[in-house]
Amino acid sequence: MTQANWAEKTLLNNSIWLLAQRRHLLSVWKDSLLLPGGSTLLEVGCGRGAGAVMLFEEFNPSRLDAFDVDEYMVTKAKRYASEYEGKINIRLGDVSKLDAPDETYDAVFDSFTLHHVVDWRKGLSEISRVLKPGGYFAFGELYGNTIRSYVIRNILHHPLEERFDRGHLVKALAENRMRLMERKNNLWGMGMIGVAKKS
Ligand SMILES: C[S@@+](CC[C@H](N)C(=O)[O-])C[C@H]1O[C@@H](n2cnc3c(N)ncnc32)[C@H](O)[C@@H]1O
Repeated sequence: MTQANWAEKTLLNNSIWLLAQRRHLLSVWKDSLLLPGGSTLLEVGCGRGAGAVMLFEEFNPSRLDAFDVDEYMVTKAKRYASEYEGKINIRLGDVSKLDAPDETYDAVFDSFTLHHVVDWRKGLSEISRVLKPGGYFAFGELYGNTIRSYVIRNILHHPLEERFDRGHLVKALAENRMRLMERKNNLWGMGMIGVAKKS
């Protein structure tokens, strides 16, 4: 597992990133997701918690769990979402070993977390395990070539071995019974925003 370094935290812990999440991630996700109010949702790698609040306000779930592997982020997220105490449950956790039972959630959200995870395949299989049949995995992710590029690898902190490209990601989704839906955004070739549906 690789936590975000100071540069990535600076990049993400602000309202410009939240605006980008709303404009780009949420708009693609909303086109594919059919989530009635009262659904059960999970966010993996919630960072400072702004995404969790955005998801809560958008989808009005009965339950929204969110976690991050970095204690500093968990503290920040709890503070950010304090108004929603009892509705948004934030805790410390690792996407490669989820503590939820099988088939708990209607949707799992990943805003640029999986490429930080050394064993990202295990993370995907855990996400699939906790999704109900017919549930959605909504994600925004970066490819290996992007995070290995000169500028990014010298500024941000990611594991660089065994990363995924589009082909690896789509294959691993299929191996975990998740099929990529039509609407997606290719992030200028740097990654993908999309939704996959579990069979
Ligand atoms: C690029 S940040 C994105 C944060 C947030 N989702 C956002 O969009 O603002 C990646 C986050 O993933 C977390 N992370 C890294 N490895 C993780 C793991 N194995 N399990 C859960 N969170 C993880 C990091 O601590 C960091 O907060």
